[in-house]
Amino acid sequence: MVDWMADYLETVEKHPVKSQVEPRQIFNQLPTMPPEKSESMEAIFEDFRTVILPGITHWQSPNFFAYFPSNNSYPSILGEMLTAALGAQCMIWETSPAAAELEEMTMNWLKQMIGLPSHWEGVIQDSASSSTLAAILSARERASGFSINDQGFTSKEKFRIYCSTETHSSIDKAVKIAGLGRMNLKKISVDKQFALNPDALEQAIVQDMANGFNPMCVIATIGTTSSTAIDPIERIATICNKYNIWLHIDAAFAGTALILPEYRWMIKGIETANSFVFNPHKWMFTNFDCSAFFVKDKEPLLRTFEILPEYLRTTTRGKVNDYRDWGVQLGRRFRALKLWFVIRNFGVEGLQEKIRMHIELGQYFSKLVEKHPDFEILAPVLFNVICFRYIPEGLNDMDRINALNELLIKDLNKSGSIYLTHTRLGSKYTLRMVIAQTNVMQQHVDKAWELICSSAARLNI
Ligand SMILES: Cc1ncc(COP(=O)(O)O)c(C=O)c1O
Repeated sequence: MVDWMADYLETVEKHPVKSQVEPRQIFNQLPTMPPEKSESMEAIFEDFRTVILPGITHWQSPNFFAYFPSNNSYPSILGEMLTAALGAQCMIWETSPAAAELEEMTMNWLKQMIGLPSHWEGVIQDSASSSTLAAILSARERASGFSINDQGFTSKEKFRIYCSTETHSSIDKAVKIAGLGRMNLKKISVDKQFALNPDALEQAIVQDMANGFNPMCVIATIGTTSSTAIDPIERIATICNKYNIWLHIDAAFAGTALILPEYRWMIKGIETANSFVFNPHKWMFTNFDCSAFFVKDKEPLLRTFEILPEYLRTTTRGKVNDYRDWGVQLGRRFRALKLWFVIRNFGVEGLQEKIRMHIELGQYFSKLVEKHPDFEILAPVLFNVICFRYIPEGLNDMDRINALNELLIKDLNKSGSIYLTHTRLGSKYTLRMVIAQTNVMQQHVDKAWELICSSAARLNI
């Protein structure tokens, strides 16, 4: 199986990058009843190859340009294999001291690598969604004097939360789960670059306060999902500081770029923020799941999540980090191991080199698009995500342009040769080209561009 895994990764480009199966095609091939008797590993593995594999989209293909990536790498896979072999459940320090201490140290390493203030502390969560939920719950508890956890909501809180219209849907979800009510999530307008407008934010806060609301949390994004826009952290942090509002920064994808000193300007002013998340499982070659969540002060986080039944009491409590108190999960995987493998095997320089190469390829692709008279770029290309569309000469009707681009993406993805996904910027149907796959090289970008151009020309006839 290990040989198969190595071969798979070497030849992943041979598979159609987006799975081509129809709904229920896999399900209908599976027995409806579980086997009574043990089956051989050979038989199970054969079914994996013939039944399961056709229904897999190959996220590790260098022709994968969709969504944001979910990268792996050899050191990460090896670390994950050891995690599975150890099978340790790392809820508290005592259930595997090395897991807790390695988590603390790898989070300290990451903090230095991305330039966060030295006194912040980090924990690995399963996803940015969970990290943001932890931040919003901590903000809620801090703002209520830690009373909602005990007494539930009264009718007096009237909390308001703010983010931009471009913020990821995980913020809406966290607000729902935290019981705050989606109608209390205020979506602030963005500028032409799709970044949050801080004047509009302050206006909304002041107006809410005048109407008896209690502004409680702002979520700013570094690298929005649609177009990787960067909200102005320094201005937003000043506003949050002025009104004593929790500032959470969601850098799920683009946080990895902070490993490059030339991108550190993005977090100028972070000292007065309260929490920050980025996902090594997106662009830092550490396979899913691994989300790095940092807080300036761990006390509100721990007071929000701590719970101490008799069966979890230990004599080391207070002297060590029991990470079950740092988020929703009790049982926790040993995720720090693969992260440690990745950071050590790449080295900071190796990571920087790869990330810079991806950004260069992004700039290269954006020039190809710019130069073509029938395509246009729809958002600033700050990293390696290019928002663009096909707009052949003579076609002016917005609905027809949108429909043509929708057709184009379907045609490309059906080919199995590349995989792109879309978004909408304003009313424009937008193609997103994300050049961040671990093994992507210029030849893959060139091939993708060739396919995009030829498919577009064919569809326009
Ligand atoms: C900006 C942003 N935040 C949060 C998320 C959610 O990430 P996760 O899948 O780790 O919850 C995403 C996912 O792409 C994202 O783009």
